[in-house]
Amino acid sequence: MPRFRDKALPFISEKEISEICIRLGLQISNDYTGKELIALVILKGSIVFAADLVRQISLPLKIDFVRLSSYGHGTESSGTVRIIKDISMNITGKNVLIIEDILDTGHTLTLFTNHLKASKPESVKICTLLDKPSRRKTFIKADYCGKTIEDRFVVGYGLDVDEKCRNYRDILYLKS
Ligand code: IMP
Ligand code: MG
Repeated sequence: MPRFRDKALPFISEKEISEICIRLGLQISNDYTGKELIALVILKGSIVFAADLVRQISLPLKIDFVRLSSYGHGTESSGTVRIIKDISMNITGKNVLIIEDILDTGHTLTLFTNHLKASKPESVKICTLLDKPSRRKTFIKADYCGKTIEDRFVVGYGLDVDEKCRNYRDILYLKS
């Protein structure tokens, strides 16, 4: 079976990812000084990024997970979003930081941030590793962004194609 790596090109190295995590961690730690944070990790794609990022944040921090589905198979968004596993902590009056792997059309996080706001948190902000602004279909913006990229499908470091490649240590993009 041909390895996926043979059909892809290197895009973001382990070193660059690690620098991004350090930079974002510092920024978040400064912005929330003296506050407590709930890091809300969007399963499954964000687990690898979240694991690295939270260890660069020097604040009292709790972690929770949610599972949303926006993709069927392949590389195109379905445009519909379902909450498969909702938050399990009480977020009323809390500072929530959503940790996302990639902000694409924006459908997923637009729906989900509105859903969270109904619980009256103190604040809801978004930290995304990657952002594809040219693909946006909603008005949502990331408060913290690792790297802005053009419209290409990327995999690795948590990001999948049909559930594969999440375990790669770097990020690749598909050859067209
Ligand atoms: P949105 O609702 O279109 O913003 O979808 C965001 C979600 O789509 C991300 O959390 C990813 O799970 C997935 N996604 C978007 N672009 C890519 C990509 O280039 N590679 C892998 N997954 C992607
Ligand atoms: Mg995702």
